[in-house]
Amino acid sequence: MADKVRIGIIGCGTIGTVHAKSYQKVANSEIVAMCDLLEDRLQEKAKEFGVAKTYTDYRELVKDPEIDAVSVCVPNDMHAPIAIAALEAGKHVLLEKPMTLNASLGEEILKARDKAGKLLQMGMVKRQAADSIAVKELIDNGRLGEIYQIRVKLIRRRGIPGLGGWFTTKARSGGGGLIDIAVHFLDLAMWSTGLWNPTKVSAKVYSKFGRDMKNYHYINMWAGPPNYEGTFDVDDYAAGFVRFSKQATLSFEVAWACNAQVESYIEILGDKGGVKIGEKDTVLLTELDGKLADIKLDYDKTRDPFVGEMQKFADAVQGKGEVAATGEEGLIAMKLLDAIYRSSDEDREIEL
Ligand SMILES: NC(=O)c1ccc[n+]([C@@H]2O[C@H](COP(=O)([O-])OP(=O)(O)OC[C@H]3O[C@@H](n4cnc5c(N)ncnc54)[C@H](O)[C@@H]3O)[C@@H](O)[C@H]2O)c1
Repeated sequence: MADKVRIGIIGCGTIGTVHAKSYQKVANSEIVAMCDLLEDRLQEKAKEFGVAKTYTDYRELVKDPEIDAVSVCVPNDMHAPIAIAALEAGKHVLLEKPMTLNASLGEEILKARDKAGKLLQMGMVKRQAADSIAVKELIDNGRLGEIYQIRVKLIRRRGIPGLGGWFTTKARSGGGGLIDIAVHFLDLAMWSTGLWNPTKVSAKVYSKFGRDMKNYHYINMWAGPPNYEGTFDVDDYAAGFVRFSKQATLSFEVAWACNAQVESYIEILGDKGGVKIGEKDTVLLTELDGKLADIKLDYDKTRDPFVGEMQKFADAVQGKGEVAATGEEGLIAMKLLDAIYRSSDEDREIEL
């Protein structure tokens, strides 16, 4: 393997740009090509990152023998076709979250990976945050004891992205706030605790703010401005309860928009300690020598999670480590998301 992993970035929107900036900080990677359907955006980004090769068709990019691996940074409906085409062409793939639109497409991606014998890393960047890593270490060292409950809260007061665009069109996104942002926290909850066995879910999703597009009042919009001629047929709020066999439970609340203050955390309760990820300081609530104790965790607050993610991917391609998040884990998250939507549609608890 050459000194540097030669990367092609497919999709030069918001997150493709973040991937490009991050690879530039990874010594053993080099961006050699970029691809986007939008020629103007593609040329602007190629110039910004000093990339010589550009493609408007991903099928051409994946044939390029000078590319070892690709970052797939396109809307969710294109994750499966592009990841599969890249794997079939012999490229390693870093695939943005959510894995795809549903679990059956996720299985197709895994089949393609196994047939190709190439690597697939899921873009679960929250795992690479310094506080997440510190908490996982605590849990792995038994400092929380037996974990029995996880509380996930991810509330935006007004945070619908790209109203009327692909984010809010179910056929293109697979769903709303749940599939877009809760996926990060559900993955983080399962990864940090090792609870990869969700067994039952009862949930309800709502769509209260986005449907009346012209009366949606907001301050900022990711992937805006709104397209009032477009579609909004997805969830903007979801709440639910997940069982991990008889061992533990997880309650979640996630909102792209609602009439509540902004909150964003995962709280993990064990019989020896409890901890909350997502605060300014991460504090272990426990007991020491028969007394209650609050212990502030020490970690590197300057760590850039995206650079961490790209570094792990480049290292894995060079055989210097494992991928940071596996396709199997991505598929478990997809199955959980499918079950949450089904529970809401069918108004009952679903077994996974
Ligand atoms: N990890 C994170 O924190 C994070 C944050 C934001 C978005 N995402 C994920 O990244 C993906 C992209 O999101 P975004 O916010 O960058 O969207 P975006 O709309 O800003 O960018 C998507 C880009 O893909 C291009 N594109 C669409 N179809 C294409 C095709 N067939 N071939 C080549 N290019 C194509 C579009 O022209 C656009 O430039 C989504 O899956 C989203 O869920 C992840």
